[in-house]
Amino acid sequence: MSDLLKDLFTVLSFQSISTDPAYAPEVQKNADWLVAKLSSLGLTTTLHDTPGHPIVIAQNKHAEGRPNVLLYGHYDVQPVDPIDLWDTPPFEPTIIGDKIFARGATDNKGQHMAHLKAIEQLLTEEGQLPVNLTVLLEGEEEIGSPNLVPFLEANKDTLPCDIIIVSDTGMVAPSTGTMGYGLRGISCCEVSLEGPNSDQHSGCIGGAIANPATEIARLVSSLHDNQGRVMIDGFYDDVEPLAEWERDMWAEVVGMDEASMLALTGAPALHGEAGYSSAERLWARPTAEVNGIGGGYQGEGSKTVLPSTAFCKLSFRLVPDQDPDDIYEKVKAHFEKHTPAHITLKVDKGHGGHPYRSDPHDRFGKVAQAALKTVFKNDPVLIREGGSIPIISDFKRILGADTLMLGLALPDAQIHAPNENFPIENFEKGVELGKTLIKVLGKL
Ligand code: BES
Ligand code: MN
Repeated sequence: MSDLLKDLFTVLSFQSISTDPAYAPEVQKNADWLVAKLSSLGLTTTLHDTPGHPIVIAQNKHAEGRPNVLLYGHYDVQPVDPIDLWDTPPFEPTIIGDKIFARGATDNKGQHMAHLKAIEQLLTEEGQLPVNLTVLLEGEEEIGSPNLVPFLEANKDTLPCDIIIVSDTGMVAPSTGTMGYGLRGISCCEVSLEGPNSDQHSGCIGGAIANPATEIARLVSSLHDNQGRVMIDGFYDDVEPLAEWERDMWAEVVGMDEASMLALTGAPALHGEAGYSSAERLWARPTAEVNGIGGGYQGEGSKTVLPSTAFCKLSFRLVPDQDPDDIYEKVKAHFEKHTPAHITLKVDKGHGGHPYRSDPHDRFGKVAQAALKTVFKNDPVLIREGGSIPIISDFKRILGADTLMLGLALPDAQIHAPNENFPIENFEKGVELGKTLIKVLGKL
């Protein structure tokens, strides 16, 4: 294996699943490895414990008059289940063809490790960096970065920042430089319904009291009309209308046409809010999604039971200028309004994050586009993203800087899913991109 990939394979073997406390020691191992690695490059590196998972900070020697660049990534990953659907063990990185298969290969270890390699190579080749660099790697992105916001607020004086570099978003097609200038926000909650105080016989009792599973299904179906619009009062109040230039630009983006979307997902047809293209639905329109729904017997065969409870887990993707707390209140009010008296409702708030949008044509945006063009040889495709990285809007609010989102995730990277993968080419291009970008930023 090439030296370039060795470090990536090491970090891909850490089972740094942030959501499950059982894996906390593995998250810690990954953080410790990063500290050792960044220190070995000669950067001043510190590990910051939090009530959750640690934050890694590394800086070169800063000097007056040079741009302050912050490089962000996350070393935590999503759970691996359903484990049976993986063709190779998720924490034993495996090369098949020209791709690396492992949990975190794309999201986000492959992408931030490419940037760390870029820094390593620049330091080896030039002896120093042309910018004041701060590397910030966190272990809680996949659970909404609960401890990074307080960390930024407490440490903003030691995190000088004119511009932020993040590779944690998508690339529309292989070898196609893509710049993200927007992210959707998110607001999560869990809704549960309580009926009888224990499961009941569906014959002896069924028909005389409400069934929580039936009622949760009614609540879930109250979320949309048959045009795919979200039916929560006030949900669209703060939604910024789409700009014409974006509609025109996105109409041309490769991979967003009907045939590609169907091929990518295997769905029988496209479906979404009437009047919008797939790109518009994903990048500039808010949604209500059911992430999980349950209640009653889930095992083999039949069981004649009237469940005592039922639940659903929901996430709402938000666009400028929707506010996650405001949306949560509207969601809660919606369920309160639609829950009949014959059942008891409980709504628990989950994590949230603000949407983000920047100007892809400002001074830094132009530099990023130039770097992408140097590496990928195409005029970069400008997109917003359907996914969320909540900390990016917090960076803007707390550190005052915009983020250049230089995504290396391919549409079929299977992030958060079985058989997550990252092409070796993307890793290599990522290294080149990191180097090119630091060099051009150094000339600003
Ligand atoms: N890297 C993703 C976000 C992403 C992926 C953006 C592809 C654009 C294109 C990130 O790690 C992620 O999955 N974020 C979560 C955030 C949530 C848990 C707060 C998401 O979007 O579900
Ligand atoms: Mn992710």
